Order: sequence, then structure tokens, then C-alpha cells
Amino acid sequence: MVSLLVDHVGELVTNDSTSGDGSALGVVRDAAFVVDGDRVAWLGDSGSAPATDEQVDAAGAAVIPGFVDSHSHLVFAGDRADEFTARMAGRPYAAGGIQATVAATRAATDEALRHTVARLVGEMTRQGTTTIEIKSGYALTVGGEARSLAIAADFTHETTYLGGHVVAAEYADDPAGYVDLVTGPMLESATAHARWIDVFCERGAFDADQARAILRAGIAAGLGARIHANQLSPGPGVTVACEVGAAAADHCTFTTAEDRDNLAAAGVVATLLPGVEFSTRSPYPDARALLETGVTVALATDCNPGSCYTTSMPLCVALAVREMRMTPAEALWSATAGGAAALRRDDVGRLTVGSRADFAVLAAPSYVHLAYRPGVPLVGAVYRAGRRLA
Ligand code: NIG
Ligand code: FE
Repeated sequence: MVSLLVDHVGELVTNDSTSGDGSALGVVRDAAFVVDGDRVAWLGDSGSAPATDEQVDAAGAAVIPGFVDSHSHLVFAGDRADEFTARMAGRPYAAGGIQATVAATRAATDEALRHTVARLVGEMTRQGTTTIEIKSGYALTVGGEARSLAIAADFTHETTYLGGHVVAAEYADDPAGYVDLVTGPMLESATAHARWIDVFCERGAFDADQARAILRAGIAAGLGARIHANQLSPGPGVTVACEVGAAAADHCTFTTAEDRDNLAAAGVVATLLPGVEFSTRSPYPDARALLETGVTVALATDCNPGSCYTTSMPLCVALAVREMRMTPAEALWSATAGGAAALRRDDVGRLTVGSRADFAVLAAPSYVHLAYRPGVPLVGAVYRAGRRLA
């Protein structure tokens, strides 16, 4: 096993509040750390590290845990740039656009789908993301959803079955029949490659009873639950998330005080996706109210061809700070440790002894620059499990 020393780190974000400045980010200045194999083996002051096989001189730069992007839809074909243009001219976003991507995805070869996922994962990696959740949901047939999950599983362990994205067109007159398919044969063939189940609980997609049935079937089959909740309007998605014990309720664009209390009490992570509000020109979620209620907040891209076609966690951090009034520290925590909580992972989203050695060296003296210098490619070297990826 090769050991690696990263030395002269001007600002090391550990997400361990017992380290460094004692904040949630656990910032250690003039730090060094040692990676042994795939794990962090030692962490301390610059210049006092044990001898290692290899060394990297960070030359005063900031080092952060790799981003954990806990919500993406990368297995698709085609794009919907025309829909985006129409939206920017005033047309609202609606769940129905998903059907256009379903048609293109069904017609695509395995090779084309795999190529798209590889391209997008590459973009994510170069922007500092080291853990990625990927959903199915653009095939909506038994074979097609299984195919999407098998492709996603080549890139990540965090795969999510989203047969309950919208009702497939051929079931337009029989939504109950489609829910039976999603909770029956489609689920059965999805479980081989899925860790999670998700459902889009929204007008135009699935109501509370249908969403509950879909998540409960997934849980009974051994999957963890997550949900698209309260995205386009206030609604029952958050309530369903809390009832079934979902790991995360994602979007949370429209929450009531009761929703926020329920999320905090149930320990359900609220995953905010500010790229969606940016790309659909919608009001942003009330991150401050969620944080002040004690809800754990994650940030993710939601990369998909409809509501938000960005792969950039740094952009999401900048939007969270500028548009949702999160502090730079809160935004970075949510994009790393928050994402790990949303995936119920304790080995990633932090840099402490024993955690997986996932990190990004920034071309900046502080993580604050991620929001302070929006749109600037500040992510330098990226490592996952101790191996350099970018
Ligand atoms: O998370 N809300 C549902 N699904 C995606 C959008 C899918 C699409 O428009 O293609 C989302 O925003
Ligand atoms: Fe989504």
C-alpha cells in the first residue's frame, strides 16, 4: 500500500468539530495529512507528519472533503435545450417534460447511455465530486429501468430506482396499474442494482397514497427510501418522507413550518437543489428556516436534462450562499457532510483519521472562494480513496 503525505495545507476542512477551530467544518490551518491506501491515516500540523512514500505540497492552498452529490439523474438520452429556452421566455416548468426524455432514453443504445453517464461523471469529478448518487427514471418499463440501474451501477454504489418518476405514457388511463407495475415486477428486476428507491410526489406525478405505496414496497424489498418532495408546490411529500423514515426529502422548495418541524423530529435530511430554482427561474427554498428549525440540510445538483443540467457542486454552493443566504461554511458542510448524511454514509464527506481519502485541492487559500469566485474553476487535484482522479 502506497502512503501519501499532503503537506502545507493552508486551510484543511475536516467536517470534524473536534478538530481545528471547533466549528462544524473543523478547519485546521497549516495542516498536513497522510493517506494510507484508501484511508486517511494521520492528520496534524504541517511539517510534523510521519515519513511517506509520496508527497504533495499544497503550497498554502485549501483542501476540502470531496463533494457528495446525493441527487442526480444521469442515465438519459437527448437534451431539452428548447424547453429551457422557452422557460427563460416565460413558460413554467412542469413534470410533463420528463416524457420527452423517456422517449429518447428508451430508443438509445446501452453504449450511448453509458457514454453520457461517463461524460457527466467526468464533469462532476473534475469539479470535486467524489461520491455520486445516480437515479433511473427515464425508461419507465421493467427492462428499461433495470438497464438504467445496471449502467448506473458501473459508476457508483449509490444507485436509486425511480420507476415512480411519472406515470408511463402507455398507462396514462391506468395510473393504478402503473403503480402496481412499479411496486411489482419493475421493483423486482430493479433491486439487483439499486440501493435506494425514490418517487416524484407532485401534481402531475404521484399523490401521497401512491408515493407511500411505492416507497413502502421498496423498503419491504430492502431498499432505502428517498423522495422528490414539495418541489413545484406545497404538498404531502415531506409528510410521506417522515412517515416512512426516508433518508432524505429532496427539493423542499415549498415547506410549511409544520413540514420543517417534522423533518427535524424525524431526522430526515432536506436536500436542497438550488440549480433547479436557477434553471427553472423559481423561488428558492427557505434554507434559513430549515436550518433554524434544526433540519440537516444537504446540497446536490439534481443534474438532469429537464429542470437543471449542471454537474457543478461549486455552482450549487455559490447559489446556496447568494440566493438562499446560507453562510459559505454552511453551504460547504451541506455539499459534503450533508450529502453523506443524505446517503447515510459516515465514511465520506469528511476528512478525519479512518475516513475514505476523498478530497479536492482548491486553487484558492480558502473554501470561501467557492462562493466568492463563482464560475471560476477553482478545483485542482481531486482524489478518491487515495487515488488521483483529476
Ligand atoms: O428532480 N422532479 C422530478 N425530476 C427531476 C426533473 C426531471 C426532468 O424534468 O426531466 C427533478 O427536477
Ligand atoms: Fe431529481
